[in-house]
Amino acid sequence: MTIQWFPGHMTKARRQIQEKLKLIDVVIELIDARLPLSSRNPMIDEILQGKPRLIVLNKADLADPSITRQWIDYFKEEGHTAVQVDATSGQGVKEIPVKAKELLRDKIERQLAKGINPRAVRALIVGIPNVGKSTLINRLAGRSIAATGDRPGVTKAQQWIKVGTEMELLDTPGILWPKFEDQNVGYRLALTGAIREEILNVEDIAFFGVKYLAKYYWDPLRERFDLKEQPQDTENPDEIVTVMEEIGRKRGCIVSGGRVDLEKASGIFLRELRAGKLGRYSLEAPY
Ligand code: G4P
Repeated sequence: MTIQWFPGHMTKARRQIQEKLKLIDVVIELIDARLPLSSRNPMIDEILQGKPRLIVLNKADLADPSITRQWIDYFKEEGHTAVQVDATSGQGVKEIPVKAKELLRDKIERQLAKGINPRAVRALIVGIPNVGKSTLINRLAGRSIAATGDRPGVTKAQQWIKVGTEMELLDTPGILWPKFEDQNVGYRLALTGAIREEILNVEDIAFFGVKYLAKYYWDPLRERFDLKEQPQDTENPDEIVTVMEEIGRKRGCIVSGGRVDLEKASGIFLRELRAGKLGRYSLEAPY
């Protein structure tokens, strides 16, 4: 699902999350391990109003593992707790209730000291569209929860999903908007398929991707498309277009006169990248 965000939508989304904050102890902020900053909401600190937060880097199976480790350290330095997961396979997901409880340790200890038996930790998952919120909810629940979302005009009681005995999760996640002002953020999101292509030009998205891979992940790119030479200067657009043309030729995207159909080549490149044919990659590194 792709949502077009307008100021009214953002205000509404923010209000819906803030309503839910009253019900919970801890927020699970879901981001994409391949682009942890671009898949984050720019106003997250303000929206969460100091609620304890666990940062979960999802789709870690698609990201470059060494960069993901750097991100975990980065968030730690920022004073947060972060874990990496693959919500599809369930890898790392068991850590979530453990870490969520750790975040509330002081509160739990205070309750125990007063003789109060602490109840299960109540959590809410928040994140931008397509980051994997429903997949993670289903994974934590151990069953398929109907994808509900917040729809106008549909009133539905909030349900708590039990995650083991120590955590309860709100069944509807909080939907946040990505940071649209920065064009590179848009390209990173489009490259991974998180936002609709129509918003940006398909050739521009592919150009951004080919340029990035040519610089940081040349070997998998070369191998996949049987390319010859790595561009000498990835900042030179002509060299990147040359690579795109080579990709097009390798995939038979030729139009009359032997010219390469760059739009078609771009589409093929994006499909293969998104299908994981170019291996694991990260589009942002913290250091
Ligand atoms: P949302 O609720 O935040 O909008 O996201 P959702 O769970 O619908 O997930 C969006 C897409 O991301 C889905 O793929 C889902 O399978 C995929 N996904 C979620 N978590 C992970 C993960 O950890 N690793 C990988 N590799 N993929 C993940 P889809 O193609 O849109 O749907 P489908 O083909 O899986 O049905």
